[in-house]
Amino acid sequence: MNKVKDKSKRGWEFTGDKGDFRLQKADRSSYLYFPLVNEGGMMSSVSPKLHGQTTSGHNTFLTPPISVEDLHNSRASRNFWIHVEGKGTWSAAGNSARQNADFYTEDAEEVELEAGFLWHRVSRSSKELNLSSQITSFVPCGNDKVELMKVVLTNNGETQQTLTPTAAIPLYARSADDLRDHRHVTSLLHRIFTSDYGIEVQPALSFDERGHRVNHTSYGVFGVEGDGNTPEGFFPVQEEFIGEGGSLDWPEAVVVNRAPDIIAGTGVHREGYEALGGIRFTTVTLMPGESVSYVVIMAIEDQRMDLEALIGKYGSSSSFDRLLEENKAFWSEKVNTVQFKTGDADADQWMKWVTLQPVLRRLYGNSFLPYHDYGRGGRGWRDLWQDCLALLIMEPAEVRNLLFDNYAGVRIDGSNATIIGQHPGEFIADRNNIPRVWMDHGAWPFMTTMLYLNHSGDMEFLNQEQGYFRDTFMSRCRERDHSLDLKEGSVLRTASGDIYKGTILEHILLQNLVPFFNVGEHNNIKLEGADWNDGLDMGADRGESVTFTSFYGSNLMDISLLLRDLKERTGQKIIEVAEEITILLDTMSEKVDYESISGKIALLNRFYASAPNKVSGVKASLDIDQVADDLAQKAEWIFNHLRQNEWVESEEGGGWFNGYYNNDGERVEGEFAEGVRMTLTGQVFPLMGHAASEDQVPQIIAAVERNLLDEKIGYRLNSQFGGIQQNLGRAFGFAFGHKENGAMFSHMTIMYGNALYKRGYVNEGRKVLESLYQLSTDFEVSHMYPGIPEYINESGRGMYTYLTGSASWLLLTMVTEVFGIKGKLGDLLLEPKLVGPQFDAEGKASIKTMFADRELEVLYKNTEGSAYGEYQISSVLINGAQVTLQRVSEGVLIARAELTSLQAGQCHLIEVELVKGK
Ligand code: G1P
Repeated sequence: MNKVKDKSKRGWEFTGDKGDFRLQKADRSSYLYFPLVNEGGMMSSVSPKLHGQTTSGHNTFLTPPISVEDLHNSRASRNFWIHVEGKGTWSAAGNSARQNADFYTEDAEEVELEAGFLWHRVSRSSKELNLSSQITSFVPCGNDKVELMKVVLTNNGETQQTLTPTAAIPLYARSADDLRDHRHVTSLLHRIFTSDYGIEVQPALSFDERGHRVNHTSYGVFGVEGDGNTPEGFFPVQEEFIGEGGSLDWPEAVVVNRAPDIIAGTGVHREGYEALGGIRFTTVTLMPGESVSYVVIMAIEDQRMDLEALIGKYGSSSSFDRLLEENKAFWSEKVNTVQFKTGDADADQWMKWVTLQPVLRRLYGNSFLPYHDYGRGGRGWRDLWQDCLALLIMEPAEVRNLLFDNYAGVRIDGSNATIIGQHPGEFIADRNNIPRVWMDHGAWPFMTTMLYLNHSGDMEFLNQEQGYFRDTFMSRCRERDHSLDLKEGSVLRTASGDIYKGTILEHILLQNLVPFFNVGEHNNIKLEGADWNDGLDMGADRGESVTFTSFYGSNLMDISLLLRDLKERTGQKIIEVAEEITILLDTMSEKVDYESISGKIALLNRFYASAPNKVSGVKASLDIDQVADDLAQKAEWIFNHLRQNEWVESEEGGGWFNGYYNNDGERVEGEFAEGVRMTLTGQVFPLMGHAASEDQVPQIIAAVERNLLDEKIGYRLNSQFGGIQQNLGRAFGFAFGHKENGAMFSHMTIMYGNALYKRGYVNEGRKVLESLYQLSTDFEVSHMYPGIPEYINESGRGMYTYLTGSASWLLLTMVTEVFGIKGKLGDLLLEPKLVGPQFDAEGKASIKTMFADRELEVLYKNTEGSAYGEYQISSVLINGAQVTLQRVSEGVLIARAELTSLQAGQCHLIEVELVKGK
């Protein structure tokens, strides 16, 4: 992988040590956008030319909803116009037809962007006009649905200048659905009010998927000059502002410097037009070097706005500055819950942006940023569980409840609800009635829960009781329950109608046992609707996911080990499960031959018949050891089966794992006459768990390097299959090198890196993670701000920035694998896998993170400069006091009690000496 050539060519550069960065000529890169958001539900995005959008949900867009192409093609932006007396018209945001016409000429303006947690500033200057602007944007933290923008204009000339400023922000004020469904008709609903400070639109009705209803939501754009002066007047109607034949990038009202249509404070209101937050400020004369500032407030409210309160809180330059500082502090504190200090200070700062990403995903879901032009804000089941991985590190206090609530989405057939409600634990029956099961869904909860148990030691969690989800789908969507009365709610009941609850452990067992029997004709688990790769969605009949077969196999083994730990730690000898589930624990009653596909299916059908969307309510008490044995046998069978049947021998020597069978029952991967077909996904789960044997690991690594590593874009998700693969999935309809067809898909690449670290292939794992860092930060090619993208496309561009589950995985991998801050059922296991350049010049590397409710700074000292594999832990000091070392095969254990005895609320230093030796 090529190293980034030269830092100055990187584009952006960090300006301090807090993650703030600067980018010259930011307007010279397309598709750039920055997120501005708060916990109150305001979700904005802003581009270097102040394009983007502002919304609080699918049905409440303040600005017109956009897709990423609109960032450069739409003329609607958060514009701020200046009429310069005697000289003409200028957009302080750079959005005027004239400035666009100058773009490729010598007259193009200088644009600099600065940004940090979570604020955005663009400075622009016009040599011709001797004027400069600095526009700062942020969404104040808290619960108000508000975005703020401060514009500072400076006269850089040697003579005085007279300026007439006009803010012009289109007020779309309705549902995203209305963009292509009666956009005009819905503008007739607009009721447009003016006041002392600006324009407020409260549509009379809302027309969207919820029907025609009286609307209460209100949208406004308000402005003040300096420390609270009211504007002069308003242009509330878009068509009047732009004039006949005009447009938002050359509006008549500004170009001819027309007086405002409505004078401030007259309370005139208009109805039935596309609205505009058009605010005319008083004409001002600036002496040479003098500046003037304006604050623009964009707000969404559930009812008409309390203007006095709004302006009181946000309506002055000084409150803007104060709130900006508060906002910076809020977000910095959030990202600083984890801090890395290695030999590469830039990489450490870059990780701060990665750390922010899981929080952004929690707030935006998978929607509302320009690439994310779909969905209604929710997250899917898979994402729900994986986002918890990062939360366990960043917001650990919240996680227990979250996990517990999420388990309420499991169905008795081991599948789960896929429509996730607004509130934790709320799952909604699919009224569109699309029968679909993602076969990977059952595998993730145990992985996340295991991380939680390792971090907390909270074994009690496994015995806590939770309900199950029920809708009209049963037997993994193969059958419909026509008898169901959804008025009874989406909860599983017993034959007598009581709500049924089972332990969390029972939920986990079901999720992993049912798939074991749900096999296709090659005795691997069926692909069903798709697996992790949402794009493999055309193999529901005969497709099989071999790679998730290995994931489930590893889970079965790890659950078995967990049960043994449970017994050892707590003395628990019995577990209780719904009596129907004993069918799935066949070795304890009537053993099925696992080689027999029909035997497995018959058993599964027996199970489905015994629990047809209801259970008897009777529980069986089982011997914990026998259950553990049953699970281990199943796991072992899977591992042997995969190693014997799914290993692809390469003509070049070695081999790799086949990951899939397609809908024609054909093996997907191998070396064919038309070329090599290989998937990274197929390798990741055998490596991450136990399926790949020790001697298979280096062979897989070699095959990945040979077939999937591309010098330009990193580790591809798959090699080029050619053709559209109608027997596998829509992903192959995408051009090769894009998204789920052969791009560098960060999520899978990081999981690959994680798996290599887990297997002790540290230098190889580091190479994988490093490739992602280099690709993402090579601005000349990736054109993205600090952070990781969902994927890197064929041309090297970083795509779908900010909202990606891969950030959780990178954070997790850095903490638990690279720095080796691992939990072991509540105790702290230190197992560093740091390599040379990660230590600084003095041989030090440190991490600040939470464990056992304590803030810890773990400082590794490798003063001898040993390579990974050569060093071991020789001593550990907590706050300067020696700890008696408890060595385990992986590293060194520090008992939880040792940590909980430390004072809460302050940071404790753990110094770990590394010396040569094995
Ligand atoms: C997205 C989805 C994730 C899915 C993946 C591959 O990845 O969110 O659930 O598994 O595509 O189809 P992400 O954007 O989270 O990286």
